[in-house]
Amino acid sequence: MLSVYLNFTLLYLAVLILIPAVRSQTSYANFFVNPDFIVAKQFNESSQRARYTIQNWAKKLAAEGPWTVVNKTMTPPSGDIHDYMSFSPYSWPDCSNVGNTTELAPEQVWTTCPYVTRDGRFNPDARMVNNIGDFDDMADAVAYSTMSFVINNDATFAQNAVRFIRTWFLDPETRMNPNLNFAQMKRGPDGQNGTRTGVLDLKSMTKVVNGIMILRGSQASQWTSDLDARMVEWTREYITWLQTAPIAVEEAAAENNHGTFYYNQLAALQILVGDTQGARQTLESYFTELYPRQIAANGDQPLETDRTRPYHYRSYNLAAMITNARLGEYIGYNVWSLTTSAGATIKTALDYAMSQAPGDDDPSSLYPYIAAVGVEYGDPDKAYAKFLVDRMANGLLVAPFHFWDELDLTGVAPGSTKSADNAKPTDRAVTSSALLALRIPNIVGTSGVVLFGFTMAFLFSTM
Ligand SMILES: *[C@@H]1O[C@H](CO)[C@@H](O)[C@H](O)[C@H]1NC(C)=O
Ligand SMILES: *[C@@H]1O[C@H](CO)[C@@H](O)[C@H](O)[C@H]1NC(C)=O
Ligand SMILES: *[C@@H]1O[C@H](CO)[C@@H](O)[C@H](O)[C@H]1NC(C)=O
Ligand SMILES: *[C@@H]1O[C@H](CO)[C@@H](O)[C@H](O)[C@H]1NC(C)=O
Repeated sequence: MLSVYLNFTLLYLAVLILIPAVRSQTSYANFFVNPDFIVAKQFNESSQRARYTIQNWAKKLAAEGPWTVVNKTMTPPSGDIHDYMSFSPYSWPDCSNVGNTTELAPEQVWTTCPYVTRDGRFNPDARMVNNIGDFDDMADAVAYSTMSFVINNDATFAQNAVRFIRTWFLDPETRMNPNLNFAQMKRGPDGQNGTRTGVLDLKSMTKVVNGIMILRGSQASQWTSDLDARMVEWTREYITWLQTAPIAVEEAAAENNHGTFYYNQLAALQILVGDTQGARQTLESYFTELYPRQIAANGDQPLETDRTRPYHYRSYNLAAMITNARLGEYIGYNVWSLTTSAGATIKTALDYAMSQAPGDDDPSSLYPYIAAVGVEYGDPDKAYAKFLVDRMANGLLVAPFHFWDELDLTGVAPGSTKSADNAKPTDRAVTSSALLALRIPNIVGTSGVVLFGFTMAFLFSTM
């Protein structure tokens, strides 16, 4: 018993110490970059450093992959290691009324103590099963590897992306079953089943779909028709789960970012299997049922502001709204000027979010969406460009989002607007601690030193 306890304690410590060290790049909450833009390869010289970063991140991630859902020390209640599993991140055990007279071993705690939710307070032992972190890394790796394949015409990137997709979804020994029956399980005597919030765990499916569409569009020989057919088959089964499992249906009706992200997943997957009409219906459901209630007249997102970390959650829902809008745009459904019941648009929500103090949240969680809104709605007085340059300086030029959402920086050259000494304390703290000089490997024939404006955003931003 003692050794079991010690083992779990060590594992727990390892989780705490190792996971933050492994991630060395920002994981954007979500994105969908028009695959036609990537495949057309008409790139601006001015976004070249952002493309270097994408290749660099693709390489760093690839060194950690492939990832598989079977890589966990605990078996889901189904007894099938291929079932995806995660623990509810904000659940904490309350052992005060269990009647034990000695300390309980972790496994006893998990099954006998009731769990209570403390919103926004992450229980680090939820990462003892890291299917969620592994999925996110895999999704980022697939997206950045496929972009890098086109950018650099280097087959290694395509091979990596295909290997990661096969390992996670298709190869018999390592594949994930197409369901989330055990996602964000709440532990405790009446737990051991997935919850509706767990559906959010796979929000980055959009990035995987993005990657596969780039492979298809660039006619990568590594992505064979056989692999494509098997992936479509997997996706159809998972779409059925998303549309029929009670917890998934419940998540679709969630009024806040949970609902918004559900539609990211479903619409992207429907596009992947060629069901454009279904994807349109999915996005129309979001934009006519949930979206109208999500943004107030002043641009506030009350359902996110109510949460424990309002700045973070506003950024988070903006990521999901913009991704739904981009998926819509891709299939000819344009919602950028669509207003909520209160008359607001996505731009209204972004403008409000920009005006709010980050508090303890990472201010950079909003930056990609400032650029996206500037690109979609225009930036005639360069307010968005100035805002980003003031806070990120050269970090903007190397941020991956500057590749797919490039603002016109003419006259707003990084470093020319405001010195770091004038920056707000929160901004300065982020800028100085996060700006790392980094030598880019010789990937496209040029090597150089660039500054990274970010490090990791929200490692544990799962709800
Ligand atoms: C399994 O996960 C552990 C820790 O999360 C990691 O160190 C290891 O590389 C993974 N192994 C495989 C085969 O993915
Ligand atoms: C009961 O178990 C919990 C969890 O291990 C522990 O925190 C608590 O101190 C235990 N109670 C007693 C009386 O030992
Ligand atoms: C767990 O969920 C499945 C369906 O998702 C349901 O059939 C089963 O009864 C649930 N088990 C418990 C203990 O709630
Ligand atoms: C190239 O940069 C300009 C701004 O400098 C921008 O307006 C244009 O959209 C960019 N093109 C692409 C393909 O991003």
